[in-house]
Amino acid sequence: MTIKQQDFSTRAIHHGYDAQSEQGALNPPIYMSSTFTFETAEAGGEMFAGEKQGHFYTRISNPTLDHLERRIANLEGAQAGLCTASGMGAITSTMWSFLEAGDEVIIDKTLYGCTFAFMTHGLPRFGVKVTLVDMTEPGNLRHAIGAKTKIVYFETPANPNNRLVDIAAISQIAHQAGAKVVVDNTYATPVLTRPIEHGADIVVHSATKFLSGHGDVVAGLIVGSQEDMMQVRLVGLKDMTGAVMSPLTAMLLLRGIKTLDLRMARHCETAMKVAQALQAHPAVLSVSYPGLDSFPQADLARRQMSDFGGMIPFEVKGGKAGGIAVMNRLKLIQRAVSLGDAESLIQHPASMTHSTYTPEERAEHGIAEGLVRLSVGLEGAQDIIDDLESALGAHNLQAA
Ligand SMILES: Cc1ncc(COP(=O)(O)O)c(C=O)c1O
Repeated sequence: MTIKQQDFSTRAIHHGYDAQSEQGALNPPIYMSSTFTFETAEAGGEMFAGEKQGHFYTRISNPTLDHLERRIANLEGAQAGLCTASGMGAITSTMWSFLEAGDEVIIDKTLYGCTFAFMTHGLPRFGVKVTLVDMTEPGNLRHAIGAKTKIVYFETPANPNNRLVDIAAISQIAHQAGAKVVVDNTYATPVLTRPIEHGADIVVHSATKFLSGHGDVVAGLIVGSQEDMMQVRLVGLKDMTGAVMSPLTAMLLLRGIKTLDLRMARHCETAMKVAQALQAHPAVLSVSYPGLDSFPQADLARRQMSDFGGMIPFEVKGGKAGGIAVMNRLKLIQRAVSLGDAESLIQHPASMTHSTYTPEERAEHGIAEGLVRLSVGLEGAQDIIDDLESALGAHNLQAA
């Protein structure tokens, strides 16, 4: 008999938690305890030896984190999950767990600025070779990959320009060469894309963003096979980064994830309207939104994503000065980095999130100096459009 899989929304609210095992508490208690007592000294020794299950120290595991780990693993379609202190904590804990000097990592050309800095400046200091490949064309990976390649790493959609990478095509090439595929799914969330279903091995998240949804935590999550997650828990997280999540943060994330699919539906619906309005505006030079027919990878977007997300990078007339001027005239949309919050946020990647790239690298990697990146919030669509149009309207008048 096949067991019917419950709806995503149902699992986002209930999976992995039994109130009766917690005195009937509808919401999981927050276990704010760094350490856990042993019934006997022998039992403690057995736990350390991995012969007995149980929590003993929150850097390794904690009941509140455990709930969140089971829930995100289920939503991503993975065997196991792991909580970390930040998205960078998730990325670095994962990478350190599988690499040693002499190995090679292949990364996509467009990544979040601090990930790019870690990969291109951090890893090489420890003897890891890092090769950059434009993965929008999977054939490029086939030419670059070799026997020393241990990890193939990318984001889809990529921060900040929404370029997509074909997860299935890249995974096939990487696996033939014996490499693991690690995907940053921060932008899409498991509501829109589940990379494991397309062949990826490990998914990392900045849970600070859509998963939390309320801009009140910095957090990271990782999912993958039992074996890989055990390796990251006991090597990368426990001994190398120590980037453990607070149980309070885990509770806030469990709360945020309950409404993830509702919020994503609204982010996507509004973003489509905003992208269309921007595209129609005479002061706008380009809009890169996967739901628009003009998007160069619109076919892949339809194949790999169930909807097109809440992020809109666009360029206005007048390049960087034009973009900055428009940002400064906005009244509702807040000038801030981060993304995926209830509030619409706008930032300038070249001087902010992607200032870790040199101007030459940005030019080569498709991050235009004039690009501004809008994270469409949960406000009324027309209010967001009105704010943009009034800022752009003034821009048009000034440009004339
Ligand atoms: C795609 C992506 N990955 C990772 C990160 C890093 O996450 P955190 O800021 O939670 O460390 C960010 C942050 O903006 C991001 O946008």
